[in-house]
Amino acid sequence: MSADQPVKVGILISGRGSNMQSLVAASREAGAAYQVALVASDKPEAAGLAWAKEQGIATFALSPKGIGKPAYEAAIDQALRDAGVQVIALAGYMRLLSGDFVARWQGRIVNIHPSLLPLYKGLDTHARAIAAGDATAGCSVHVVTEELDDGEVLGQAEVPILPGDDATALAARVLVEEHRLYPQVLTEFVRR
Ligand code: GRF
Repeated sequence: MSADQPVKVGILISGRGSNMQSLVAASREAGAAYQVALVASDKPEAAGLAWAKEQGIATFALSPKGIGKPAYEAAIDQALRDAGVQVIALAGYMRLLSGDFVARWQGRIVNIHPSLLPLYKGLDTHARAIAAGDATAGCSVHVVTEELDDGEVLGQAEVPILPGDDATALAARVLVEEHRLYPQVLTEFVRR
């Protein structure tokens, strides 16, 4: 992708959007490699969507309920294309994208996952790491494929699991690293 013009990124969220906020913050720095062209959500009530609107970022919200996944994904796809999006960043987007959607954006979707992949794909990553007696946990940014939390790992950050940690405490420690890691890896990704 071009190094001259910032690459247009579309961010998909389902919830509070703290990773989205860190991506937006980095996109506003001088010389940023990407700009956020659209924030889209499957949850019209997502807190992160309201934040993006307040920031003057273009948003798109649509619930798949009642219309089915193909129609829902076609509408999201269209909104992303209308906004000129070149790369999609999933940030707490809680739906599995279909193979068709992933194929249309082949190699151009990335995700952040709160574990040291390939460990703990799916949900409850922090509780599972603690239950396993792991000494460390962390987060990974990876290319999205049809398989859940699979695809090339682009970057990882590690944190210690401390005595007495519960999932909430560990998630908070990992989240600090997510906010640092995601903008850095997305910047490298759009430049490569
Ligand atoms: C993050 O922990 C992210 O790794 C996971 O979902 C959470 C989303 O948090 N995929 P936020 O919406 O970015 O605050």
